[in-house]
Amino acid sequence: MGCGKTKEKTLVAITIDTPRLKIHKTLIWKHPKSFYEEYQSGNKIGTGGFAEVRRCTHKTTCQMRAVKIYYKNLFTADYVSSNGFHNEIEIFRRIDHPNLVKVYEYFEDEKCFYITMEFCKGGELFEKVSNKTKIPERTVCLIMKQILSIVSYLHEKLIVHRDIKPENILLEDRDGDFHIKIADFGNAIFFSKAQNIKGQAGTSYYMSPEVIDSEYSEKCDEWSCGVIMFMLITGCPPFIGNSDDEIISNVKKQEYSLENPSFATISHEAKDLIKSLLTPENNRLSAADALKHPWFELFKEKQGLQTTSDFYMKIQENIRNYRPSCNFKDAIKAFIISHVMGDKDIRPVRDVFMFLDEDHDGKIDDHDIGKYMNKSFKDGGNEGQINIFKYFEGETRGFLEYNEFLRVALEDSLILTKKNVLMAFGMLDWYKNGVVTAEMLMAAIESNAKDVEIWKNMIEETFRKKDGSFGIRQICEMIEGG
Ligand SMILES: Nc1ncnc2c1ncn2[C@@H]1O[C@H](COP(=O)(O)OP(=O)(O)OP(=O)(O)O)[C@@H](O)[C@H]1O
Ligand SMILES: [Mg+2]
Repeated sequence: MGCGKTKEKTLVAITIDTPRLKIHKTLIWKHPKSFYEEYQSGNKIGTGGFAEVRRCTHKTTCQMRAVKIYYKNLFTADYVSSNGFHNEIEIFRRIDHPNLVKVYEYFEDEKCFYITMEFCKGGELFEKVSNKTKIPERTVCLIMKQILSIVSYLHEKLIVHRDIKPENILLEDRDGDFHIKIADFGNAIFFSKAQNIKGQAGTSYYMSPEVIDSEYSEKCDEWSCGVIMFMLITGCPPFIGNSDDEIISNVKKQEYSLENPSFATISHEAKDLIKSLLTPENNRLSAADALKHPWFELFKEKQGLQTTSDFYMKIQENIRNYRPSCNFKDAIKAFIISHVMGDKDIRPVRDVFMFLDEDHDGKIDDHDIGKYMNKSFKDGGNEGQINIFKYFEGETRGFLEYNEFLRVALEDSLILTKKNVLMAFGMLDWYKNGVVTAEMLMAAIESNAKDVEIWKNMIEETFRKKDGSFGIRQICEMIEGG
């Protein structure tokens, strides 16, 4: 039997009292090596305050990725004192959503930090907006649904982005699919509902009046969504001027017009939503409420997914048969999904996630599963449902976030192929000496890694071996054995 074949049945569920591996939701690790050892750097694709973004090729997987390189000598005193870079990493680690740019890992050397991420081939939404071709209202609706969905998700996690603008919204592909990815969390911060946020942040065209006044809530992001929606329809911002001061003064007046000829064929509902976003903070819709606006009903369609297809049936089966275990094999699977597998295999399952997530909160819960997976659970009772909602990050909750869903829904035979396992091993084997230790595995998988003894024990149990390390032969034998 080849390395790729596994028997899910042999996974043993462990009880909640057993010390367990902590597999973090998003596996963003501090890579111990230098960026240039792991990547071939390519041409520049963007520049900002103290960072530049380049294409790069990941040497092990040959995947084209992007890297944001932060030059430490350009950091402002404020950025250093607020621990800006690590704040951005911490935010990326807490969020897990299909409309977020995927981050792989970060590196540090004497002069720079490097964050590696997926490369969004479609470039900035800004280019689409500014190239004058009219975007159909249906497409505007599709884009806004995704932007509001991510804003709602972030706010629920008490994160405010503060720089939602078309330059920071990237398109996954060049084709007409319009799957968007939000990038650039350089201005994002954690907020508290009990306290207003202070200090200006953002870009004048998209800044809300209360941000200009330096005291505001997370609803500043919804204002920016209103500006973007206006721009997607008309091709220009609602508040313009020849200088930053003039733009800011126009934003503060809050006067804009929906009489522009571009609005002639636009629905009344779309205009109503813009008005509900470009309005004073106390009346402004939250992103979660905006997603319930009647405009979205006009273009509501569940297309592109055959719920009777073999593929969909297989996903249902995987979910039903999932057994929480959190063992060594789960750790390797999680690493392969996050760091090795390419888009081609992940995307179809991502599309299922988005299909199931009907209320666009970035979570699959009982309701979503019940509505679209009845067939699967009818025969299996609700056992599968109970299983999938347990044991992530040591919590028992009633929902799955994106990467968790991938781990449950993706086929083992797609993840644990010999090629993927070998690549994962190569990436974990820092010293290229054919040995991976508990520390190496833990550093890649548990973000605030501290329980090395648990990892050592797990490796010892798995391989019946005393030194808490493993080699390529053992890992292949284990995968072959199921
Ligand atoms: N993953 C990516 N794929 C493709 N292009 C990207 C990617 N990330 C960034 N870019 C391009 O690089 C530009 C700059 O990136 P980003 O917005 O993250 O940095 P920045 O504006 O310099 O950040 P900051 O505002 O923190 O200074 C983006 O507007 C986009 O054009
Ligand atoms: Mg930016």
